[in-house]
Amino acid sequence: MLRSRAYGPACADSDPSSDDGLVTAPEAPSRVHFDPGAMDIRAFYRVLNSVVVPRPIAWVCSRSAEGVLNLAPHSFYTVACVDPPVVQFTSVGRKDSLRNVEATGEFTVSLTPEWLFEQVNATGTDFPAGMSEAEQCGVHLEASEKVGVPRVALSPVAVECSLHSTVRLGDSTVVFGRVLHISAWEGAVRDGRPRIEHLKPLARLGGNEWSTIGEVKEIARIPYRNWAADPAIGQQVRGD
Ligand SMILES: Cc1cc2nc3c(=O)[nH]c(=O)nc-3n(C[C@H](O)[C@H](O)[C@H](O)COP(=O)(O)O)c2cc1C
Repeated sequence: MLRSRAYGPACADSDPSSDDGLVTAPEAPSRVHFDPGAMDIRAFYRVLNSVVVPRPIAWVCSRSAEGVLNLAPHSFYTVACVDPPVVQFTSVGRKDSLRNVEATGEFTVSLTPEWLFEQVNATGTDFPAGMSEAEQCGVHLEASEKVGVPRVALSPVAVECSLHSTVRLGDSTVVFGRVLHISAWEGAVRDGRPRIEHLKPLARLGGNEWSTIGEVKEIARIPYRNWAADPAIGQQVRGD
């Protein structure tokens, strides 16, 4: 039975009567399906960008071999490794940030705070390679601690990286940066770590949508030994 709309050839939803081990929910809404093999890749990209949300934004600062500073937002950004500490961002196509990092082996990632919303967006403008986005957009930079590339002065957190490696994937290149140093505003740090209420990070959503941090929730991870010892834990999670 097909209970759904499809972009591209659709797959039938699984047969609810079959014993496939799924925990079914009869009240689950029907779905629209998106098949990358049957869609224009740009249209699929718009869908993908709308479902991998919210994405943190790396404000990547780099310097060209000629010495021109570059500042560009990248929302395909995350932690790649804990030990050694490595972060990653993805260049869709070959852009100046990627070329600079390859040429000089260094970059910084500054957190993009709410108070620099318009500047963050403006640094995503496709300025020519010889033009500094920071200068054009009035973003103040200051010297970093361990790398020769500056950080954004009015961003509360900056991550300093040396190039670890790159991986080419189709039209994109993933850049891995070994984290050499993190600096945070003194007033943003409490009990040994930067705190979200002082960072106010922007995040990227689908289309031209962005978001700010909403309600912050806290919950402790449940060790299995507690789960096994106390049936009430599972009952509460399942809503039994
Ligand atoms: C919020 C935001 C997030 C972006 N994320 C990415 C990204 O993850 N990868 C990418 O290649 N371009 C991304 N872009 C587009 C680049 O910032 C844009 O192409 C920029 O001109 C690249 O600068 P560069 O050529 O100086 O490196 C993003 C733009 C904005 C505004």
